[in-house]
Amino acid sequence: MLYRDNTNKVIDESRQGEALADTVGLGRKLYLETYGCQMNFADSEIVASVLKEHGFGTTPIMEEADVVMVNTCAIRDNAEQRVRGRLDLFRSLKKNNPDVIIGVMGCMAERLKDKLLEEEKVVDIVVGPDAYRQLPALIAEAETGQKAVNVLLSREETYADISPVRLGGNGVCAFISITRGCDNMCSFCVVPFTRGRERSRDPQSIVNEARDLFERGYREVTLLGQNVDSYLWTEALPSKKEIMKARAEGVDVGETCSFAQLMERVALISPDLRVRFSTSHPKDMTDDVLHVMAKYENVCSYIHLPVQSGNSELLEKMNRGYTRKWYLDRIATIRSIVPDCGISTDIITGFCGETEEQHRETLTLMDEVGFDFAYMFMYSERPGTLAARKFNDDIPEEVKNRRLQEVIDLQMRSSEISNQKDVGKTFRVLVEGESKRSDQDLQGRTPHNKVVVFPRQHFKKGDYVSVIVEDCTRATLKGKAVS
Ligand code: 5AD
Ligand code: SF4
Repeated sequence: MLYRDNTNKVIDESRQGEALADTVGLGRKLYLETYGCQMNFADSEIVASVLKEHGFGTTPIMEEADVVMVNTCAIRDNAEQRVRGRLDLFRSLKKNNPDVIIGVMGCMAERLKDKLLEEEKVVDIVVGPDAYRQLPALIAEAETGQKAVNVLLSREETYADISPVRLGGNGVCAFISITRGCDNMCSFCVVPFTRGRERSRDPQSIVNEARDLFERGYREVTLLGQNVDSYLWTEALPSKKEIMKARAEGVDVGETCSFAQLMERVALISPDLRVRFSTSHPKDMTDDVLHVMAKYENVCSYIHLPVQSGNSELLEKMNRGYTRKWYLDRIATIRSIVPDCGISTDIITGFCGETEEQHRETLTLMDEVGFDFAYMFMYSERPGTLAARKFNDDIPEEVKNRRLQEVIDLQMRSSEISNQKDVGKTFRVLVEGESKRSDQDLQGRTPHNKVVVFPRQHFKKGDYVSVIVEDCTRATLKGKAVS
């Protein structure tokens, strides 16, 4: 097994792998499966691009692949169990074709490192989120019969110069990574350990990527980061933390670009290029961002603003950096600057020590805000996190589950009310393709991120269509085009 760290020996081995990598892919096929967040989907497109440079084409058929990669998530235990299930399937694939190389990438690879090789004998390669440029070398090593691991995290890597190969999308909407990593250390979250220190990507490379997408017919880009509001770029320093420290010491850090400024630059590419972003952090979201949203019609009026809990004490235990009141004040500010803004959230039920009263505060906060949409989860303890070290995961599974069900039931009512309020209104919808239910209908999304289905007529993918909403379900708006 080759394990990389910063010793000279390993650097030599890495060079050997790189030399082999020059011929590794010619005419060969990569099958890539992705789990988890949008960042992971964006990373898979970077991996496809890195391997394309080495002659690999992608295939949707696992059995015909020379290399099978699975991009993994570690945020909750059930995400990892799902990947373990896939590895079982890859075992039978390898029985039929012993030459196939099996690689695990992403957060689970970073979390488990070479332990994954011990636990899952079928795996040949383990590669962390900052080491994807090394994949050709790792594949070359794996082909010599050795196991290959690179889980080094970087302070600088943003893959800024890599033009992602767009995989399986609709040709209209694309994701662009603008930051990597996270410095927040929410106590429940494994991401700072699996994705490393936060760093911002060169704004010019982001604008170039967005412009190139627009010229190729894309009409919507989503700027992605674990915490987009933390985006802060300067030529000399890689992270917000370092920039703030230098500023505090009176050092001139040169020209900077904030998230609001970046978003404005992307919005100015064309009024026909829609801009979205995710994820926002309540403690970092500035009014500047809201003013850019209000100023440009093509910046979508939609914010995903995870609250996690409605109780201030729990928020403190979660290390979120805001209180219930702060969060509600941010919501009020959003609504005053961007009237009609769609707002969604993330909620965790059954965090360590959560009382019934604290849980009810989550329900009352949800009631007060009236979220349009929510992602809702039971707390899942993650090894190595602050919460795992400091607190007891003491809420019984059935209580977590019951509380989750109460949160889901409330959100379903809230989503339905939110959709009903849209009946009779007209929205500018970007057509993303055929409706899943009928080829006579098209579907797209409103600026507020709601799915709308309407009769096809002469419209096509990539068109902007004014649609009046006539009816709705809990999940979808239904309407017809107006001239
Ligand atoms: N358990 C449950 N949910 C979690 N999330 C993050 N870590 C955990 C965990 N350990 C949720 C948070 C976050 C979303 C991406 O996943 O709500 O916002
Ligand atoms: Fe995890 Fe918090 Fe960072 Fe989001 S902001 S990735 S929840 S540590």
